[in-house]
This record gives sequence, structure tokens and C-alpha cells, in this order.
Amino acid sequence: MKLKKNKFPNDFLWGASISAFQAEGAYNEDGKGMSVQDIKKYGEDVSDFKVASDFYHKYKEDIALFKEMGLKSFRFSIAWSRIIPSGDGEINEKGLQFYENLIDELIKNDIEPIPTLYHFDLPLSLQERGGWNNRELTVNAYLKYAKALFKRFANKVKYWITFNEQNVMIMIGSKVSILNGSHSSLNEKELYQQSHNMFIAQALAVNLLKKYNKESKIGPALNNVCIYPNSKKPEDYLSAQNASIMRNWYYLDAIVRGIYNPIVKKYFLDNDLMPEILETDLDILKKGKPDFLSINYYTSGTVMENQEDTDKEIKIDQQTMFDINGLFSYSKNEYLGKTEYGWPLDPVGLRITLREMYERYQLPLMISENGIGLSETLENETVNDEIRIEYYYKHIEQLQLAISEGIEIIAYNPWSAIDLVSSHQGFKKRYGFIYIDRAENDIKSLKRYKKKSFYWYQNLISKNGDIF
Ligand code: BG6
Repeated sequence: MKLKKNKFPNDFLWGASISAFQAEGAYNEDGKGMSVQDIKKYGEDVSDFKVASDFYHKYKEDIALFKEMGLKSFRFSIAWSRIIPSGDGEINEKGLQFYENLIDELIKNDIEPIPTLYHFDLPLSLQERGGWNNRELTVNAYLKYAKALFKRFANKVKYWITFNEQNVMIMIGSKVSILNGSHSSLNEKELYQQSHNMFIAQALAVNLLKKYNKESKIGPALNNVCIYPNSKKPEDYLSAQNASIMRNWYYLDAIVRGIYNPIVKKYFLDNDLMPEILETDLDILKKGKPDFLSINYYTSGTVMENQEDTDKEIKIDQQTMFDINGLFSYSKNEYLGKTEYGWPLDPVGLRITLREMYERYQLPLMISENGIGLSETLENETVNDEIRIEYYYKHIEQLQLAISEGIEIIAYNPWSAIDLVSSHQGFKKRYGFIYIDRAENDIKSLKRYKKKSFYWYQNLISKNGDIF
């Protein structure tokens, strides 16, 4: 039987997304301190993050384009190192002023600002003093930073995101040093301690915000994805459950329910990975329940029963699954196509993920990222990005089906609003509705051009998604 489709809610937030270090540039301007990302580069022919898309200087021009596209929301991140250059010291008024101007400009254009407090860019000075390993330092610094933001913006901003992809930072932190500066040298035990410290910071931030505005909403953005077993063998199904627990439920059970998932607990105990949990911690977590959950969805995962002795080489990044000894092993999924950059394409997986999350936690959901990276060239002042249009068409169709099934979804903020520097593959991996004239190591004119997807999304928004 065919599912009857409901319309998108009238107040649905059709948006788009960026992060500070990938788009702003101006890495050392107006008193900004260094962040762990400012010292990163992924090879000679790959761009660093110093100029990025120059959003810092061009935000007004970009917001005018967002308005033209019809955006109702804009999800961006705030650079901690602009607000508190040393991470935990003096507040930099110029940093606050920049985000105040940005927020005001969005509001003036009827675009809901959705800031993320922390998107992979820890102030370098904190990292040098232990970063998220140092609970006392970094949790307090995060709260000081959050306080500065809430004090200034709580009456202007309705939706706040606490952490971007805590699960990615932790899961692949010991395997690749891509996201948080110096994670490469961390072992699993340290990472799970960091994760616990982030849970505490997040829960305390939830309560802090309410002191400034009870009506504001706050929640985390995790890279949650549904996980398939590679066969109907019961052991494979069990492994898929394990993978989902390690990637999704461990984080969300702690954040929403204030508990450590029992299967994770057992894994921690058996492998000497249990973090230090202070007596009052679980209480802090229970009292810091978020108002909504946000997800970054690019693809699903597939796993099979754990093969302990394989030495297969898996190219790990934030979207691929991997192996955890005793729990699951990565597997290919022959039912799914792939993007140019090798990520499996799975729009139905988005709906499955949304259903799983809503059934489990019954909290409103937001999509803070969803998109496809492509290498693109400008022709006749535009880019014919049919592949991106198809990607969005299929994902938004599934979104509508999820809404029709009664899943409460507030916003869709695809990645990304404008071309920006990929988190680890440079500027050539483009994600935007808006093309930016620059190459990896050549800043060029930084001029903006509307891609074909710009007009497609504009049309979709003008019909409130009623195109299927
Ligand atoms: C998400 C991150 O994991 O994936 C973004 O939150 C990132 O920062 C996005 O850019 C796409 O990944 P990548 O590595 O292609 O830039």
C-alpha cells in the first residue's frame, strides 16, 4: 500500500549550513586566537582554512543570496577562538560583535539563525593544555564561552546546537587525526573520557541557556546513521545492533536519558575503557536533557559479524563504518550506489534514521547537515549540478515520508550553503548551492555564482516542499 503524503508544516525551516573554520577565513583578524584547525593542512595541493570562503568579510553578500534563495534558517558555527582567543581567558568584544552583526543580518532577512557552539575548532591554547582530556579546564572554559554567547544572544536566537558530531570526534579520533587537531595520539580510553567530559559540558550548557531564556531550544548534532547487517545471519544482525549502539545510542542515551547504555558499559569494563565518572555526573546528565536532536546525515552504514583477524585496509573518514573488535566489522553494501568521493548513497536510510531516533527518544528532530561533495567547474557563470539536485530530491522525498509518518521534524539545513573547505579534502570537494571562485592554493576572485541547485532549491522552498 502506498503511503499517503502529508504536506510539510507551514513553519518548516528550509535552511542551509556552514561551519566557522570551513567558511569564514580571517583566521587571525579582529583579535581571533588560533584554533586547532588553523594549523592544519591535508597535503600540499589541499587548501588550508586560513581564507576559506571569506565568509567573514562577505557574509552580507551571502545572506542577500540566501534571502534570494528563500532560506528560512541558516545553521552556522561560532568560532570559540574569536570569542575567547585563549579559550578560557578574556572575552574579545570584536568576536561577539561579528556574530551579533551576522545574527542581526539574518534576522533582518527573516532567516532563523541556528548557531553551533563547537564545530571541531577547539582553541589551540586549550588543546595545548590537554584539551578535552582536561575536564576541569575545558568543561569550565566551554561553559564560560557558552555563557558569553547566551548572555548576548539568548534573546535573539531560538535554536542552539551544543556540539557538532561528538560521535565522529570520538569514534575516529584514534584512527585519523582529521577533526580535532591532535587526536592522532589519543588512545580509546582517553577518547571515551573526552566523550564523557563533553556529555557533562553539554548537559550544563543546556541548563545555563535556560537561565537566560527559558523559551530557547538547545540540542546536540550527531552524525547518526542507521546501520544494516550485511546478511540475514543472526550474528550479523547482532553486529548491526552493536554498531548502532556504538555510533548512535551510547551518545544519545547519555545525552537524553542520562544513562550509560548497558552494552557499552560492558564493552568499556571488558576492555578497560571505562571513563572516570564522578558521583554527581549521572545526575547532571539527567537534568540536562536537550529540547531537540539534530542529525548530520550523508550515508548509512553496513556491518557484519566481527572478523577479528582481518587486516583489510579501510579508508576511514567520518562517514565510513569501521571495525570494533568483538562487536562488528565493516562491510560493503552492494545495494547502494556511491558518490564520486566514495560515500554510499542512501536516501531511504535518512528516513530509517529519523524513525529510529524518534521512536527511541520522542524529541523533535532537526537536520543540520545532508549533502553531496562534487568536483565542479564553472561554465557560463553557473554550475550544472544535476547530481546534487537528484541527491536532494531523493532525500527530501524521504523526509516528507518521515513527516507523513508522524515524525516531528523542524528543520532541514543541507550542507552546504556556499562552497567551503571540506573538513579533510580541500576546496575542490564542493558542497554549496553557491559556487565560489577559488582553487586549492589560489584564492582567485572569491566571486559568488548561483549553481543550478540554487534555483532548484529556491523553487522547492517557494512551494514549501510540495514538489513530489
Ligand atoms: C560532517 C562535518 O561530518 O561532514 C562537516 O560536520 C563536513 O564539517 C561534512 O564538512 C562533509 O565532510 P567532508 O569531509 O567532505 O568535508
